[in-house]
Order: sequence, then structure tokens, then C-alpha cells
Amino acid sequence: MQKIYASTQALRFRWINAQCFEFVMPNGKTLLTDPYFDDPDRFQAGKGMSLMDFSVEDIEAADYVFVNHTHGDHIKNLQQVYDRFHPIVICHSAVAMEIARTHDIALTSIYPVDFNGKYYFDGFMLQTYHGTHHASGATYGALGGRENELDAMGSIFNVNFILHTPEGMRIAFVGGNDDGMTERFREIRPNLLIRNKMGSSRDFERVAERFADIFVRSNTQLLIPMHCETWVNERPDFLNEVIGDMNRIMEEKHLIGRVSLLERTRWYGLNLTITEL
Ligand SMILES: [Fe+2]
Repeated sequence: MQKIYASTQALRFRWINAQCFEFVMPNGKTLLTDPYFDDPDRFQAGKGMSLMDFSVEDIEAADYVFVNHTHGDHIKNLQQVYDRFHPIVICHSAVAMEIARTHDIALTSIYPVDFNGKYYFDGFMLQTYHGTHHASGATYGALGGRENELDAMGSIFNVNFILHTPEGMRIAFVGGNDDGMTERFREIRPNLLIRNKMGSSRDFERVAERFADIFVRSNTQLLIPMHCETWVNERPDFLNEVIGDMNRIMEEKHLIGRVSLLERTRWYGLNLTITEL
């Protein structure tokens, strides 16, 4: 076993499901993203986006909730999380009013943000970026119009972010299309990139290569795929192959970046460590 000489923890975190992560900052404040973990109408053991035996009672804390976009598989459990923890709900200003209309959330707990902003919270800072959704073809009318406005807006835009910790760790959180994020990473150089797949869960074309391509161009040290729970449930061998291929591509290019799949609901630490060689 490698001897650790010194180690410092930037934060604790875990992937829960879809784009739902729980980040615990060094000061103990917790940021929860895209709450979607409990959906009895859709969840079937080992199928699709299902995560079984996990409910809002299993969330440790939520001082802040961040909404990347407003599709059901990103906000379905928002009300439950709000009822239990009364967090500040950080969302794009264009969806703030519709979240207020469709949820029972104190208006002063809704925290609208815009693209290209810096937002300072207790224990972390978020930099926000414009993002778009993977193409779906859905129209406003087909989604049911006014009654499903959040669903419609979810297809129109995403909000990506870089989370900055007080110690200078940079964690990028990107859903949907690239929208210039890889280009921005040249300057921002995130330590950790948490990235949705490059396409839908039914898109199996050159997955490792496309994923590796952004990773290679990002100068990022670590990458964690997210929103790949359908593959975790239904095609674990394919997903492990993708991860293995990506690490092989990085090694062949003599790049230090490495990718790993997290086990859903399990806690991890993001550390800076000095070890014996
Ligand atoms: Fe979506």
C-alpha cells in the first residue's frame, strides 16, 4: 500500500442518479444538483434510469439545489427535497417563474442565475455557462403546451457550471452538447470534469472516442461520466469497455487525465495527496 505523506480534501461528493450529485464543501454546506432519484411510476429494477431503494430520506443535506435544465429526470424530486431541507434553488432566470408557479417553494428561496455569471455562495462559487440539450425533436405542442412549460424549456437550454472551492479546486458540470465548454476549459482547466454522455442513451456510435476527444482537448485531470444510469442498469459491460477504452486512449497520448465510473449513492473524496512512489 502506498504511503500517504499529506492529504487534503477539497470536497466529498457522490453520484446519486442521472445528473443528481451531492457535493459537500469543506465548510459543510451541501450543493445538490438536478434532483431525480425516486420515481415509482417509471422505475423498474435494473431498467432504464431506475435507482431502487433510495428516497429523499437518504439525501444527507441540501443547502442549495442547482437545476441544469427542467426536464422531469432533472427536477422530479425537487419538491420533496425542498420540503425536507428548504434549500436555495438555483436555476436559470428564464425558468424561475415557472418553477415558482408549478412548485410550492418560497419565492425568496428561488435564486435565478444567468449565463456567464459568477455567483458567490457560502463555501463555493459557481460560474455559469450557456448550454443546449441533445437534439430530441420534441415540439411545444407535442409536449402539451402551457401545462408542460418546464418540460419544453428543458429542451431549449441547459446551464452548465464550474464550481470553485475556496482552495481553488475547479469542478466542471456539463450536460447536453458541448457548446464551447471544451474551448473554455483550455483557459479554466478544471481538475475534475463531470460530463453527460455525448448523445442519448440509445446512441452507441464511437462513444469512447467522442468522450475521449473532449477529455483530450480539455486538459482535465479527472473525468466522471454522469446520466449513464441506463447503461449502468442495462449494459454494464459496454460502459466498462467505454471507460477502459478512454483510459487507454489517454495513456497512448501520454496524457495524465483518467476517467472513472462512480458507483451510484456511494461517497467519494476529491483529494490532493502526496504519496511515496
Ligand atoms: Fe433532458
